[in-house]
Amino acid sequence: MKNAKQIKLMLIPDTCYLIIIKGEALKILVTGGAGFIGSRVARVLAELGHQVRVLDNLSPQVHEEAAFPAELTESIECIKADLRDRDAVQHALEGIEVVAHLAAETGTGQSMYRIRHYSDVNTTGTAGLLDIIVNEPNSVRRIVLSSSRAVYGEGPYNCPNCGIVYPPSRSISQLAAHEWEMNCPRCGQVAIASVPTTEEALLQPQSIYASTKQSQEQLVSITTQARELEAVILRYQNVYGPGQALTNPYTGVICAFFSSIIQGKTVTLFEDGEISRDFVFIDDVVNATVEAIIRPEIGAPQPLFLNVGMGARTTIREVAQTLYETLELPAQIEVSGQYRLGDVRHCYADVTRLEQQLGYTPQFSFVAGIRQFVEWALTQRDMIAQSPDRLEQAKAELIARNLFRN
Ligand code: UD1
Repeated sequence: MKNAKQIKLMLIPDTCYLIIIKGEALKILVTGGAGFIGSRVARVLAELGHQVRVLDNLSPQVHEEAAFPAELTESIECIKADLRDRDAVQHALEGIEVVAHLAAETGTGQSMYRIRHYSDVNTTGTAGLLDIIVNEPNSVRRIVLSSSRAVYGEGPYNCPNCGIVYPPSRSISQLAAHEWEMNCPRCGQVAIASVPTTEEALLQPQSIYASTKQSQEQLVSITTQARELEAVILRYQNVYGPGQALTNPYTGVICAFFSSIIQGKTVTLFEDGEISRDFVFIDDVVNATVEAIIRPEIGAPQPLFLNVGMGARTTIREVAQTLYETLELPAQIEVSGQYRLGDVRHCYADVTRLEQQLGYTPQFSFVAGIRQFVEWALTQRDMIAQSPDRLEQAKAELIARNLFRN
Protein backbone atom coordinates (compact mmCIF):
# COMPACT_ATOMS: atom_id res chain seq x y z
CA MET A 1 0.00 0.00 0.00
CA LYS A 2 2.13 2.86 -1.29
CA ASN A 3 1.59 6.60 -1.75
CA ALA A 4 -0.05 7.13 1.61
CA LYS A 5 1.19 10.27 3.31
CA GLN A 6 0.79 11.50 6.84
CA ILE A 7 -1.46 14.53 7.15
CA LYS A 8 -2.24 15.30 10.79
CA LEU A 9 -3.12 13.95 14.19
CA MET A 10 -6.80 13.78 14.97
CA LEU A 11 -8.68 13.20 18.21
CA ILE A 12 -12.15 11.84 17.50
CA PRO A 13 -14.75 13.68 19.62
CA ASP A 14 -16.20 11.76 22.61
CA THR A 15 -13.62 9.03 22.29
CA CYS A 16 -10.01 8.56 23.16
CA TYR A 17 -9.02 7.50 19.68
CA LEU A 18 -5.94 9.42 18.65
CA ILE A 19 -5.31 8.60 15.04
CA ILE A 20 -2.66 9.49 12.51
CA ILE A 21 -4.62 10.15 9.33
CA LYS A 22 -3.14 8.86 6.11
CA GLY A 23 -3.70 10.43 2.71
CA GLU A 24 -5.22 7.47 0.90
CA ALA A 25 -8.88 6.46 1.44
CA LEU A 26 -9.08 2.68 1.54
CA LYS A 27 -11.92 0.26 0.87
CA ILE A 28 -12.04 -1.95 3.94
CA LEU A 29 -14.13 -4.97 4.91
CA VAL A 30 -14.44 -5.64 8.65
CA THR A 31 -15.68 -9.16 9.38
CA GLY A 32 -17.21 -9.35 12.84
CA GLY A 33 -17.77 -5.63 12.40
CA ALA A 34 -20.77 -5.49 14.75
CA GLY A 35 -18.76 -6.93 17.63
CA PHE A 36 -17.11 -5.28 20.60
CA ILE A 37 -13.82 -4.56 18.84
CA GLY A 38 -14.95 -4.69 15.19
CA SER A 39 -17.72 -2.10 15.55
CA ARG A 40 -15.33 0.46 17.02
CA VAL A 41 -12.66 -0.27 14.42
CA ALA A 42 -15.26 0.16 11.66
CA ARG A 43 -16.54 3.45 13.10
CA VAL A 44 -13.07 4.94 13.55
CA LEU A 45 -12.09 3.96 9.99
CA ALA A 46 -15.27 5.55 8.62
CA GLU A 47 -14.63 8.73 10.64
CA LEU A 48 -11.18 8.86 9.05
CA GLY A 49 -12.76 8.92 5.61
CA HIS A 50 -12.24 5.30 4.60
CA GLN A 51 -14.94 3.35 2.80
CA VAL A 52 -15.99 0.67 5.25
CA ARG A 53 -18.19 -2.38 4.84
CA VAL A 54 -19.12 -4.69 7.70
CA LEU A 55 -20.00 -8.38 7.53
CA ASP A 56 -21.46 -9.90 10.70
CA ASN A 57 -23.93 -12.68 11.48
CA LEU A 58 -25.17 -10.89 14.65
CA SER A 59 -24.69 -14.06 16.66
CA PRO A 60 -27.41 -14.26 19.37
CA GLN A 61 -24.82 -15.25 22.01
CA VAL A 62 -23.26 -11.79 21.62
CA HIS A 63 -26.06 -9.55 20.31
CA GLU A 64 -29.27 -8.88 22.21
CA GLU A 65 -30.78 -7.35 19.06
CA ALA A 66 -31.04 -9.10 15.69
CA ALA A 67 -30.33 -5.84 13.80
CA PHE A 68 -27.25 -3.69 13.33
CA PRO A 69 -27.11 -0.66 15.68
CA ALA A 70 -28.02 2.70 14.13
CA GLU A 71 -24.61 4.21 14.91
CA LEU A 72 -23.10 1.68 12.50
CA THR A 73 -25.67 1.72 9.70
CA GLU A 74 -25.75 5.52 9.42
CA SER A 75 -22.24 5.68 7.98
CA ILE A 76 -21.32 2.10 7.13
CA GLU A 77 -22.66 -0.52 4.73
CA CYS A 78 -23.62 -3.50 6.90
CA ILE A 79 -24.22 -7.01 5.57
CA LYS A 80 -25.85 -9.56 7.86
CA ALA A 81 -24.34 -12.88 6.82
CA ASP A 82 -22.31 -15.74 8.13
CA LEU A 83 -18.63 -15.93 7.24
CA ARG A 84 -19.28 -19.45 5.97
CA ASP A 85 -21.78 -18.20 3.37
CA ARG A 86 -19.58 -18.15 0.27
CA ASP A 87 -21.87 -16.04 -1.91
CA ALA A 88 -22.34 -13.41 0.78
CA VAL A 89 -18.60 -13.18 1.47
CA GLN A 90 -17.82 -12.95 -2.23
CA HIS A 91 -20.30 -10.10 -2.54
CA ALA A 92 -18.87 -8.39 0.57
CA LEU A 93 -15.36 -8.53 -0.94
CA GLU A 94 -16.30 -6.59 -4.08
CA GLY A 95 -13.89 -3.66 -4.49
CA ILE A 96 -12.23 -4.31 -1.10
CA GLU A 97 -8.50 -3.56 -0.62
CA VAL A 98 -8.03 -4.48 3.04
CA VAL A 99 -9.83 -7.21 4.97
CA ALA A 100 -9.83 -6.84 8.75
CA HIS A 101 -10.85 -10.33 9.79
CA LEU A 102 -12.29 -10.23 13.30
CA ALA A 103 -15.28 -12.58 13.04
CA ALA A 104 -14.76 -15.49 15.43
CA GLU A 105 -16.10 -17.46 18.36
CA THR A 106 -14.10 -16.39 21.43
CA GLY A 107 -14.97 -18.40 24.56
CA THR A 108 -12.04 -20.47 25.78
CA GLY A 109 -14.11 -22.67 28.10
CA GLN A 110 -16.98 -23.12 25.65
CA SER A 111 -14.59 -24.16 22.91
CA MET A 112 -13.61 -27.22 24.93
CA TYR A 113 -16.99 -28.85 24.25
CA ARG A 114 -18.25 -27.07 21.09
CA ILE A 115 -15.22 -28.35 19.23
CA ARG A 116 -16.72 -28.78 15.81
CA HIS A 117 -18.49 -25.42 15.96
CA TYR A 118 -15.36 -23.48 16.97
CA SER A 119 -13.35 -25.25 14.32
CA ASP A 120 -16.04 -24.62 11.73
CA VAL A 121 -16.51 -20.89 12.43
CA ASN A 122 -12.91 -19.94 13.15
CA THR A 123 -10.85 -22.29 10.99
CA THR A 124 -13.19 -23.26 8.13
CA GLY A 125 -14.65 -19.74 8.05
CA THR A 126 -11.17 -18.26 7.57
CA ALA A 127 -10.32 -20.92 4.98
CA GLY A 128 -13.49 -20.00 3.03
CA LEU A 129 -12.57 -16.31 3.05
CA LEU A 130 -9.07 -17.05 1.75
CA ASP A 131 -10.41 -19.49 -0.83
CA ILE A 132 -12.43 -16.66 -2.38
CA ILE A 133 -9.48 -14.25 -2.25
CA VAL A 134 -7.32 -16.80 -4.08
CA ASN A 135 -9.85 -18.09 -6.62
CA GLU A 136 -12.16 -15.18 -7.48
CA PRO A 137 -11.33 -11.78 -8.99
CA ASN A 138 -10.77 -9.20 -6.23
CA SER A 139 -8.57 -6.26 -5.18
CA VAL A 140 -7.53 -7.41 -1.71
CA ARG A 141 -3.98 -6.29 -0.87
CA ARG A 142 -3.82 -6.81 2.89
CA ILE A 143 -5.37 -9.04 5.51
CA VAL A 144 -5.33 -7.99 9.16
CA LEU A 145 -6.22 -10.94 11.40
CA SER A 146 -7.38 -10.69 15.00
CA SER A 147 -5.55 -13.55 16.64
CA SER A 148 -5.05 -14.13 20.32
CA ARG A 149 -2.30 -14.50 22.89
CA ALA A 150 -3.98 -17.86 23.54
CA VAL A 151 -1.76 -19.30 20.79
CA TYR A 152 1.21 -19.15 23.20
CA GLY A 153 -0.44 -21.27 25.89
CA GLU A 154 1.55 -20.71 29.07
CA GLY A 155 4.25 -18.70 27.35
CA PRO A 156 7.81 -18.40 28.69
CA TYR A 157 8.91 -18.78 32.31
CA ASN A 158 12.24 -18.10 33.96
CA CYS A 159 13.71 -21.00 35.92
CA PRO A 160 16.56 -20.01 38.29
CA ASN A 161 18.43 -23.17 37.22
CA CYS A 162 17.60 -23.53 33.52
CA GLY A 163 16.83 -20.01 32.27
CA ILE A 164 13.90 -19.48 29.86
CA VAL A 165 11.65 -22.55 29.60
CA TYR A 166 8.24 -23.27 28.10
CA PRO A 167 6.23 -25.44 30.48
CA PRO A 168 3.48 -27.55 28.93
CA SER A 169 -0.04 -27.18 30.30
CA ARG A 170 -0.59 -28.34 33.87
CA SER A 171 -1.64 -31.98 34.16
CA ILE A 172 -5.05 -32.90 35.54
CA SER A 173 -3.36 -34.57 38.53
CA GLN A 174 -1.40 -31.36 39.26
CA LEU A 175 -4.59 -29.31 39.13
CA ALA A 176 -6.47 -31.87 41.23
CA ALA A 177 -3.72 -31.49 43.87
CA HIS A 178 -4.29 -27.71 43.74
CA GLU A 179 -0.67 -27.14 42.75
CA TRP A 180 -1.44 -24.09 40.69
CA GLU A 181 1.93 -22.65 39.72
CA MET A 182 4.06 -23.90 36.85
CA ASN A 183 7.04 -26.17 37.46
CA CYS A 184 10.20 -26.23 35.35
CA PRO A 185 9.82 -28.91 32.64
CA ARG A 186 13.60 -29.57 32.78
CA CYS A 187 14.69 -29.62 36.43
CA GLY A 188 11.31 -29.74 38.20
CA GLN A 189 11.89 -26.49 40.13
CA VAL A 190 8.49 -25.51 41.51
CA ALA A 191 6.68 -22.18 41.11
CA ILE A 192 8.84 -20.62 38.42
CA ALA A 193 8.16 -17.04 37.31
CA SER A 194 6.23 -16.02 34.21
CA VAL A 195 8.06 -13.51 31.95
CA PRO A 196 6.64 -11.33 29.13
CA THR A 197 5.85 -13.19 25.92
CA THR A 198 7.47 -11.93 22.72
CA GLU A 199 6.11 -12.78 19.27
CA GLU A 200 8.98 -15.26 18.83
CA ALA A 201 7.79 -17.40 21.75
CA LEU A 202 6.95 -21.06 21.28
CA LEU A 203 3.30 -21.64 20.32
CA GLN A 204 1.58 -24.18 22.56
CA PRO A 205 -2.20 -23.71 22.27
CA GLN A 206 -3.96 -25.18 25.26
CA SER A 207 -7.64 -24.90 24.36
CA ILE A 208 -9.61 -25.67 21.21
CA TYR A 209 -10.20 -21.93 20.83
CA ALA A 210 -6.44 -21.33 20.93
CA SER A 211 -5.84 -24.06 18.39
CA THR A 212 -8.36 -22.48 15.98
CA LYS A 213 -6.55 -19.15 16.38
CA GLN A 214 -3.25 -20.82 15.51
CA SER A 215 -4.86 -22.42 12.43
CA GLN A 216 -6.21 -19.03 11.36
CA GLU A 217 -2.71 -17.57 11.69
CA GLN A 218 -1.22 -20.37 9.59
CA LEU A 219 -3.92 -20.17 6.91
CA VAL A 220 -3.50 -16.40 6.57
CA SER A 221 0.27 -16.53 6.76
CA ILE A 222 0.74 -19.24 4.13
CA THR A 223 -1.85 -17.83 1.72
CA THR A 224 -0.66 -14.22 1.88
CA GLN A 225 2.98 -15.17 1.36
CA ALA A 226 2.14 -17.37 -1.64
CA ARG A 227 -0.03 -14.62 -3.18
CA GLU A 228 2.36 -11.76 -2.28
CA LEU A 229 -0.27 -10.05 -0.15
CA GLU A 230 0.39 -8.13 3.05
CA ALA A 231 -0.64 -9.67 6.37
CA VAL A 232 -0.68 -8.27 9.89
CA ILE A 233 -1.53 -10.77 12.62
CA LEU A 234 -2.57 -9.17 15.88
CA ARG A 235 -2.35 -11.27 19.02
CA TYR A 236 -4.83 -9.54 21.32
CA GLN A 237 -4.47 -9.98 25.06
CA ASN A 238 -7.58 -9.84 27.31
CA VAL A 239 -9.59 -6.96 25.88
CA TYR A 240 -12.13 -5.09 28.03
CA GLY A 241 -14.03 -1.82 28.08
CA PRO A 242 -17.33 -0.06 27.47
CA GLY A 243 -19.55 -1.86 24.97
CA GLN A 244 -18.59 -5.40 25.96
CA ALA A 245 -21.46 -7.92 25.82
CA LEU A 246 -22.22 -7.96 29.56
CA THR A 247 -24.75 -10.78 29.47
CA ASN A 248 -22.66 -13.03 27.23
CA PRO A 249 -21.15 -15.51 29.71
CA TYR A 250 -18.22 -16.12 27.37
CA THR A 251 -17.07 -12.52 27.11
CA GLY A 252 -14.49 -12.63 29.87
CA VAL A 253 -13.82 -12.37 33.54
CA ILE A 254 -14.30 -8.60 33.96
CA CYS A 255 -17.90 -8.73 32.69
CA ALA A 256 -18.56 -11.87 34.74
CA PHE A 257 -17.31 -10.20 37.94
CA PHE A 258 -19.17 -6.94 37.26
CA SER A 259 -22.47 -8.80 36.73
CA SER A 260 -22.00 -10.72 39.98
CA ILE A 261 -21.14 -7.58 41.98
CA ILE A 262 -24.04 -5.55 40.64
CA GLN A 263 -26.46 -8.36 41.54
CA GLY A 264 -25.07 -8.51 45.09
CA LYS A 265 -23.52 -11.94 44.54
CA THR A 266 -20.10 -13.03 45.75
CA VAL A 267 -17.31 -12.94 43.18
CA THR A 268 -15.72 -16.35 42.69
CA LEU A 269 -12.00 -16.48 41.99
CA PHE A 270 -10.93 -19.76 40.43
CA GLU A 271 -7.79 -21.62 41.55
CA ASP A 272 -6.18 -19.49 44.31
CA GLY A 273 -7.16 -16.14 42.79
CA GLU A 274 -3.62 -15.52 41.56
CA ILE A 275 -4.25 -16.37 37.87
CA SER A 276 -2.97 -13.40 35.90
CA ARG A 277 -3.67 -11.83 32.52
CA ASP A 278 -2.64 -8.80 30.47
CA PHE A 279 -5.84 -6.72 30.41
CA VAL A 280 -5.82 -4.20 27.59
CA PHE A 281 -8.36 -1.40 27.21
CA ILE A 282 -10.57 -1.34 24.13
CA ASP A 283 -9.35 2.07 22.88
CA ASP A 284 -5.75 0.83 22.84
CA VAL A 285 -6.81 -2.24 20.87
CA VAL A 286 -8.84 -0.18 18.40
CA ASN A 287 -6.01 2.32 17.88
CA ALA A 288 -3.50 -0.47 17.23
CA THR A 289 -5.88 -2.31 14.89
CA VAL A 290 -6.68 0.80 12.87
CA GLU A 291 -2.99 1.55 12.55
CA ALA A 292 -2.34 -2.03 11.38
CA ILE A 293 -5.03 -1.55 8.71
CA ILE A 294 -3.96 1.82 7.33
CA ARG A 295 -0.20 2.02 7.89
CA PRO A 296 1.55 1.67 4.51
CA GLU A 297 4.15 -0.92 3.62
CA ILE A 298 3.95 -3.40 6.45
CA GLY A 299 3.19 -7.13 6.46
CA ALA A 300 5.17 -8.21 3.38
CA PRO A 301 7.06 -10.19 2.21
CA GLN A 302 6.60 -11.85 5.64
CA PRO A 303 3.44 -11.45 7.74
CA LEU A 304 3.90 -9.07 10.66
CA PHE A 305 2.99 -10.70 14.01
CA LEU A 306 2.23 -8.22 16.79
CA ASN A 307 1.21 -8.56 20.43
CA VAL A 308 -1.49 -6.07 21.36
CA GLY A 309 -1.56 -5.69 25.12
CA MET A 310 -0.67 -3.41 28.01
CA GLY A 311 2.54 -5.31 28.71
CA ALA A 312 1.60 -5.68 32.39
CA ARG A 313 0.20 -8.46 34.55
CA THR A 314 -2.92 -8.20 36.69
CA THR A 315 -4.23 -11.05 38.84
CA ILE A 316 -7.92 -11.89 38.88
CA ARG A 317 -7.92 -11.03 42.59
CA GLU A 318 -6.75 -7.51 41.64
CA VAL A 319 -9.50 -7.38 38.99
CA ALA A 320 -12.16 -8.11 41.62
CA GLN A 321 -10.63 -5.65 44.13
CA THR A 322 -10.33 -2.87 41.54
CA LEU A 323 -13.98 -3.33 40.53
CA TYR A 324 -15.16 -3.17 44.16
CA GLU A 325 -12.98 -0.11 44.86
CA THR A 326 -14.20 1.69 41.73
CA LEU A 327 -17.81 0.92 42.64
CA GLU A 328 -17.09 1.92 46.27
CA LEU A 329 -18.62 -1.29 47.56
CA PRO A 330 -17.35 -3.67 50.25
CA ALA A 331 -15.63 -6.65 48.66
CA GLN A 332 -17.36 -10.06 48.76
CA ILE A 333 -14.75 -12.38 47.31
CA GLU A 334 -14.55 -16.16 47.54
CA VAL A 335 -11.45 -18.09 46.48
CA SER A 336 -13.04 -21.31 45.30
CA GLY A 337 -10.17 -23.63 44.35
CA GLN A 338 -12.22 -24.58 41.30
CA TYR A 339 -10.48 -24.75 37.94
CA ARG A 340 -11.28 -24.81 34.23
CA LEU A 341 -9.49 -27.26 31.99
CA GLY A 342 -7.80 -25.39 29.15
CA ASP A 343 -7.02 -22.29 31.26
CA VAL A 344 -3.53 -20.88 31.28
CA ARG A 345 -2.07 -19.72 34.58
CA HIS A 346 -0.23 -16.53 33.69
CA CYS A 347 0.36 -14.53 30.58
CA TYR A 348 1.39 -11.05 29.62
CA ALA A 349 2.80 -9.53 26.49
CA ASP A 350 6.05 -7.95 25.50
CA VAL A 351 4.78 -4.98 23.46
CA THR A 352 8.15 -3.72 22.19
CA ARG A 353 7.41 -4.75 18.61
CA LEU A 354 4.00 -3.04 18.65
CA GLU A 355 5.74 0.19 19.60
CA GLN A 356 8.52 -0.27 17.03
CA GLN A 357 6.36 -1.33 14.08
CA LEU A 358 3.17 0.66 14.58
CA GLY A 359 4.56 3.47 16.72
CA TYR A 360 1.81 2.71 19.21
CA THR A 361 2.22 2.71 22.98
CA PRO A 362 -0.78 1.57 25.06
CA GLN A 363 -2.29 4.57 26.84
CA PHE A 364 -4.64 3.19 29.49
CA SER A 365 -3.59 1.87 32.89
CA PHE A 366 -5.82 -0.88 34.28
CA VAL A 367 -7.30 1.44 36.91
CA ALA A 368 -8.09 4.15 34.32
CA GLY A 369 -9.64 1.60 31.96
CA ILE A 370 -11.75 0.01 34.68
CA ARG A 371 -13.05 3.43 35.66
CA GLN A 372 -14.38 3.94 32.12
CA PHE A 373 -15.72 0.39 31.96
CA VAL A 374 -17.62 0.79 35.26
CA GLU A 375 -19.03 4.17 34.30
CA TRP A 376 -20.54 2.61 31.17
CA ALA A 377 -21.51 -0.73 32.71
CA LEU A 378 -23.54 1.02 35.43
CA THR A 379 -25.80 2.37 32.69
CA GLN A 380 -26.57 -1.26 31.76
CA ARG A 381 -27.77 -2.37 35.23
CA ASP A 382 -31.42 -2.78 34.26
CA MET A 383 -30.52 -4.90 31.27
CA ILE A 384 -28.34 -7.14 33.48
CA ALA A 385 -31.10 -7.45 36.08
CA GLN A 386 -33.65 -8.48 33.43
CA SER A 387 -31.41 -11.05 31.74
CA PRO A 388 -31.47 -14.70 32.79
CA ASP A 389 -28.34 -15.78 34.69
CA ARG A 390 -26.35 -17.05 31.73
CA LEU A 391 -23.16 -17.18 33.79
CA GLU A 392 -24.56 -19.97 35.95
CA GLN A 393 -25.82 -21.75 32.83
CA ALA A 394 -22.37 -21.50 31.24
CA LYS A 395 -20.73 -22.91 34.38
CA ALA A 396 -23.27 -25.77 34.44
CA GLU A 397 -22.37 -26.64 30.83
CA LEU A 398 -18.70 -27.01 31.80
CA ILE A 399 -19.50 -28.98 34.98
CA ALA A 400 -21.70 -31.40 33.01
CA ARG A 401 -18.72 -32.21 30.80
CA ASN A 402 -16.21 -32.42 33.64
CA LEU A 403 -14.33 -29.42 32.22
CA PHE A 404 -14.78 -27.40 35.41
CA ARG A 405 -13.71 -29.06 38.63
CA ASN A 406 -13.13 -28.61 42.33
C1 UD1 B 1 -9.69 -14.47 26.97
C2 UD1 B 1 -10.69 -14.36 25.83
C3 UD1 B 1 -10.14 -14.85 24.54
C4 UD1 B 1 -8.81 -14.15 24.27
C5 UD1 B 1 -7.87 -14.40 25.44
C6 UD1 B 1 -6.56 -13.67 25.24
C7 UD1 B 1 -12.85 -14.53 26.78
C8 UD1 B 1 -14.00 -15.39 27.10
N1 UD1 B 1 -11.87 -15.10 26.16
O1 UD1 B 1 -9.52 -15.83 27.37
O2 UD1 B 1 -11.04 -14.59 23.50
O3 UD1 B 1 -8.26 -14.64 23.10
O4 UD1 B 1 -8.46 -13.89 26.61
O5 UD1 B 1 -5.72 -14.01 26.29
O6 UD1 B 1 -12.78 -13.36 27.07
N2 UD1 B 1 -12.19 -16.69 36.00
C9 UD1 B 1 -12.48 -16.70 37.37
N3 UD1 B 1 -13.78 -16.53 37.77
C10 UD1 B 1 -14.81 -16.37 36.90
C11 UD1 B 1 -14.50 -16.33 35.52
C12 UD1 B 1 -13.19 -16.50 35.10
O7 UD1 B 1 -11.60 -16.87 38.20
O8 UD1 B 1 -15.96 -16.23 37.36
C13 UD1 B 1 -10.80 -16.88 35.56
C14 UD1 B 1 -10.65 -17.98 34.52
O9 UD1 B 1 -10.48 -19.25 35.09
C15 UD1 B 1 -9.40 -17.54 33.77
C16 UD1 B 1 -9.37 -16.03 33.96
O10 UD1 B 1 -10.35 -15.72 34.93
O11 UD1 B 1 -8.26 -18.13 34.29
C17 UD1 B 1 -9.65 -15.27 32.68
O12 UD1 B 1 -10.74 -15.91 32.06
P1 UD1 B 1 -11.51 -15.32 30.79
O13 UD1 B 1 -11.75 -13.88 30.99
O14 UD1 B 1 -12.69 -16.19 30.59
O15 UD1 B 1 -10.55 -15.39 29.57
P2 UD1 B 1 -9.32 -16.18 28.94
O16 UD1 B 1 -9.48 -17.63 29.06
O17 UD1 B 1 -8.07 -15.56 29.46
